[in-house]
This record gives sequence, structure tokens and C-alpha cells, in this order.
Amino acid sequence: MEKQWWKESVIYQIYPRSFKDSNGDGIGDIPGIISKLDYLKELGIDVVWLSPVYQSPNDDNGYDISDYRNIMDDFGTMEDWELLLKEMHGRGLKLIMDLVVNHSSDEHQWFMESKKSKDNPYRDYYIWRPGKEGKEPNNWQSTFSGSAWQYDETTEEYYLHIFSKKQPDLNWENPKLRQEVYDMMKFWLEKGIDGFRMDVINFISKVDGLPDAPNPDEKKYVSGSRFFMNGPRIHDYLQEMHKEALAEYNVMTVGEMPGVNVEQAKLYTDETRDEVNMVFQFEHVDLDSGPGGKWDLKPLKLTDLKQNFTKWQTGLQEIGWNSLYLNNHDQPRMVSRFGNDKQYRVESAKMLATFLHMLKGTPYIYQGEEIGMTNVRFDSIEDYKDIETLNMYDEKVNQNGEDPKKVMESIYVKGRDNARTPFQWDDSEHGGFTTGTPWIQVNSNYPEINASQAVLDEGSIFHYYRKLIKLRKEQPIIVHGRYDILLPEDENIYVYTRTLDAQKLLVILNFTEDEQSFPVPPDLHEMKSKVLISNYEPAQEYSSTIQLRPYEAIVYLLDMR
Ligand code: NOJ
Repeated sequence: MEKQWWKESVIYQIYPRSFKDSNGDGIGDIPGIISKLDYLKELGIDVVWLSPVYQSPNDDNGYDISDYRNIMDDFGTMEDWELLLKEMHGRGLKLIMDLVVNHSSDEHQWFMESKKSKDNPYRDYYIWRPGKEGKEPNNWQSTFSGSAWQYDETTEEYYLHIFSKKQPDLNWENPKLRQEVYDMMKFWLEKGIDGFRMDVINFISKVDGLPDAPNPDEKKYVSGSRFFMNGPRIHDYLQEMHKEALAEYNVMTVGEMPGVNVEQAKLYTDETRDEVNMVFQFEHVDLDSGPGGKWDLKPLKLTDLKQNFTKWQTGLQEIGWNSLYLNNHDQPRMVSRFGNDKQYRVESAKMLATFLHMLKGTPYIYQGEEIGMTNVRFDSIEDYKDIETLNMYDEKVNQNGEDPKKVMESIYVKGRDNARTPFQWDDSEHGGFTTGTPWIQVNSNYPEINASQAVLDEGSIFHYYRKLIKLRKEQPIIVHGRYDILLPEDENIYVYTRTLDAQKLLVILNFTEDEQSFPVPPDLHEMKSKVLISNYEPAQEYSSTIQLRPYEAIVYLLDMR
């Protein structure tokens, strides 16, 4: 197994709009991030993944880019960004940037040209088609509700947009477009960045002929997704991108890939194929969705979660590499979703962190996770800002007459704004995020849940994350050990081991609010042991049966010699 810096690292994601506002306009910004670098250093992370900071009309909070080489006015200037990079490197922190090239904004210069005429030199930068019998070219659906096609009167054709109509899909079939993307990547690499997180990068190759999706289509992803996820030329494009843009730099890449399975992920991350270093897969965050998709709520079964993680852990054990995450800017808060954000918020947040950081792969922390920030419940749909949520509500309630109460319940559980409320820095007004009016309301629990009290309290979730991150630096077994699951059928506890040479980690996790017990298998019980980390103090001695308290997590380091 090759040693790579990105395998040894812990990555922290910043969603800049909601991190820290420095100028009182209610929007997080780059100088705000700079002012918090010492906090990140204290936490101990190695790498920051910065969600998009490029020029954008903000239809989808920066994931709709109108100029890839400039910084969004709300966030600051290129000088601010350069200072950020310098300040980060000065502290030994790496920076990876978001690369959003499945689509641009409709306000990008390329699209403004493209829509002017059918023979414009930029026409083929996007995917244009004539209508079929006065209707859309095919029946594909947008991820953000409605058809994936938008009619444009000037040339009387439709353009494809898998996301909002202000996010037209780029045409990767066009070698000129591909070269533009590689040049743009080199522009940032030359500035010294340390890698890219690639937005829905497995959507860039579409099936020839853009066929209709069978009707009725499976509803797990939107209709048509089978024709644009992991398409026929995706591996060629990624290998070309590596050769043309990335090969000369010592950088890391992580490809966001909805709908990817283990076998495909192995191809994408096989080190000999030069595509990407790891992927963000979605299977474990789909386990609590019913057949109707994301908003069709379904209770999560621990055995499903175990089976899924085990499939990924073992599937990429020899070839490839896993990314490890339980939340990000598109997912609800992990303590609310997989733990208990009330009575056992602190215990369950630490248990989930233990679970993730002891697995094999590179762990990602989403801003606020390290202080146990929770989901939010705004009273009115008017308080929500996310385009996915607003479009879905409009479609279901206003167009289809569904019960608004039921739709709000699904937003409380799954809405992306759960993750996007401002970072809770302290107990001053608006949680210390801004001196102005925040662009989205702060979660009202900020007086109890905030970074300043977490940093002061040695027993906090924050300090527990510090320990986990530090352990990763001290124990190669956490990075490289082989994963094996114990008790795959148990609905309450998750137990797994990691093995490297003569050492074993025994990771024992209670996923419930009840007491549970774990009978240690005799062969493991005979080994010498020490507690590596535990979320209850004092930690339990190793014994033949471990009695677990609510959401208890313990990791023993066993010596087989
Ligand atoms: C995935 C991003 O994470 C999400 O926030 C965005 O809306 C879509 N891709 C479209 O760029």
C-alpha cells in the first residue's frame, strides 16, 4: 500500500457563505475564514476543502459559476484569496478548491455567447437540442424539480440543465471546452493550491443520443440519471484531465459521484489508472430514503448501514481508497440524523466521530460538526433559502396540492439548509457569525452550542475530535489497517476491527440510547489491551463482556504478540 499525504490527512470542509462574516453584510467571507485559521489549526486538521468562492449570481450558492478565475464579490477579492492561501500554507494547512465543471452559470460569458446563434463559436460549449413535437427533447428531470430542459427563444432550441435552469450543462464532447477546463485548473494549480473536490464529476459524460428514460423510471435519482451518471466516456475524460492538468502537481482529487457503486469506484480510484484519488459515494446517505427518493422518509436500520459500510470498506481494501463522511453542505447534520441531538447530543456526536475516524479512508469534517451543531426547524418555508428545497416545496404544495405540514417535516429531516445555518462561534447575537443580519437565520440553540464554550470545555466534542485527529498521526493502523466486521446482524451495536501486523484495533459502538452488552470473542480477549479513546470517563477496562452505556464508543488497541 503506497503512502500518500492525502491518506494520512483529515479534511475540513468550509461552506464560506456560512462560516464567518468579517464586514457585517451577513454573508461569510474570505477575511472571515482567515480570522479563524488558528481555530482550525488548534482542531488539528490538515486540509481545507473550500466550497466555491468564484464569481456567481448565487442561484445555487456558488455552484453556478459565472467566472472561474475570479472571486465572488460577497467573499472578497483575489488578494484576499491569495492571502488565505499564504496564511494556510504558513500554518502547514493545505487548500483544496471546488471544481464545478459539469455546468456553469447561465451568466458565464461562454453561455451568453452560446445562446446568441446556432453558429456562434461557443454554441457547442453547451448541450442544445431542438424540441420533439413541440415538447422537450427528452423526458429527463432536473435534480431541482421540473424538466431538465429549458427553451430559449433566440434560437428556438432547448438547453440541458441537470440542476437549475441557471446551471446549463457543459458539453464535454467538445475538445475545446475540455481544454478550457484544463487551462482553468492549471491557473489555480499554478497559484499553489493542493487539489480539487470535483462537483458531480461523474455526470460529465452523457449517453449518446440522449434517449428518453423508460417510463415509469426508478425514482431513486431523477428520471434520466442512468443516462448521465457514469456515462460512456467518463473514464477517458478523467484520464485526459489527469494527463493535461494534474499530473505534474502533487495534489489530491476527490470526485463527487452520486449513483456510483463499489465496482465503478474501484475503477475511478485505482492508483494505476490516474483518474481521481477518492470519490464521494452516496449509498449510505440514501439508506433512509424510500422508493420516492430523498424526500420520501424512511427509518434507518443499523444493519443496513453496517452492511453498506462493510461493502465499501472491503470493496476498496486492496485497490482504491475511501472518503469518509456523514454530512456536508448538501446533507442534514449527522448528530440529528444518525445520533440523538437532544439528551445524548454530546455522547452520540462523539460516538459517530469515533465510528468514522476509525474506518479506513480519509475522514471529512463538515464545519460545525466538531461542536455538534444540529438540524434546524424554521417555522415557515419563507425562512428557507435553498433552491432545491424551495423548488420541491413549490412543486409538491403549490402545483400538486400535497399537505404542506408533511412537506415541511421532510424539509426538517432532509433539507440542505440544515447544514447551511451560520457557524455558531459564541453566545453573542447571531452566534458571533455576523454583526449584521445573517443571510439565513442562525439556529436558535447557539447560546448552548457554540465554539467558544466548546474550546474552553476539555470534555467537549471539539476536544474529542482533537484527540481523534491526533491519534491518526500517531497510529499507522488507523490509516492502513485492514477492516473486518463483527456481529453484522446486530441491530444495536456496530463492532469492527482494524488489523496491521501484530496489532488490532477493536472499535465498539453503541448506536442506541439503551444499555447494550458486547461479549468479546475469546481469541480477542486473550490479547494485551489498552484503551485508545472512549467517550465516557473513565474508560472501561477490557473484560470478557463489555457493558455499553447510551451511545458509548470505545476503541481498544490489542497486541497479538
Ligand atoms: C453538488 C453540490 O454539492 C451541490 O451543492 C450542488 O447543488 C450540485 N452539485 C450542483 O452543482
